[in-house]
Amino acid sequence: MNAHDCLVIAHRGASSYAPENTCAAFDLALAMGVRHLELDVQMSRDGHLVVIHDDNVDRTSNGSGAVTAHTLAGLHALDAGAWFDAKFAGERIPTFESLLDRYKGRAHLHVEIKGKTAGLAERTADAIRKHGWAQDVTMTSFQKSKLEELRAYAPALPVGWLLQNIDDAVVSEARTLGIAQLCPRADTITPQLVERLRTEGFNVRAWGVANEDLMRRMVASGVNGMTVNFPDKLIALLRGT
Ligand code: G3P
Ligand code: CA
Repeated sequence: MNAHDCLVIAHRGASSYAPENTCAAFDLALAMGVRHLELDVQMSRDGHLVVIHDDNVDRTSNGSGAVTAHTLAGLHALDAGAWFDAKFAGERIPTFESLLDRYKGRAHLHVEIKGKTAGLAERTADAIRKHGWAQDVTMTSFQKSKLEELRAYAPALPVGWLLQNIDDAVVSEARTLGIAQLCPRADTITPQLVERLRTEGFNVRAWGVANEDLMRRMVASGVNGMTVNFPDKLIALLRGT
């Protein structure tokens, strides 16, 4: 595979430079020339889809407590930018639907079903359908149950399975579920693994690319793409600059 074919996916936006999972981070990624944005979806207490990574708001806002303990209004009142840098004060935890509106036609979203709330995967698929995004999303999760729900409820949506480790059982389950993309943790990926999975027809997408060394190893191993917090550096590497 030509290195230029490696997909650059901004992980929670350009999250090395702006507060993760906020419009500031997603806008910055687009400004860097990235079309693929990764984000995490959870549900508020009153059933709204919100974009935040952790199960609680403590790390990435000025609030505290579980995401599922807050209403949407309560989440919206939180500052999701100042923890990262004072210049981002006023950034909000976005709703998933606001991002579907904001980036329609400008991005491909890699949507991770992060929360464990019942119905989260179906509600996320409903929002995607309602906003006419079905052609430009890839659904992902570490939770096999959520992937099964997605395959049953919205079989047209492409799915990637986020994995800590890959073994034969996982490969066989992925095939049975009709999952075309496998997403191993970057530090478990070797050229041999990529070759094997690609020969078996899977798209191989890395996550957990913690530093530039690992990023270079991923490109050399022939992965189809990776999420990365510093997409500008991956773009430069692929361009050979
Ligand atoms: O690329 C997938 C990656 O986002 C999974 O890990 O913890 O950042 O959601 P995490
Ligand atoms: Ca994620």
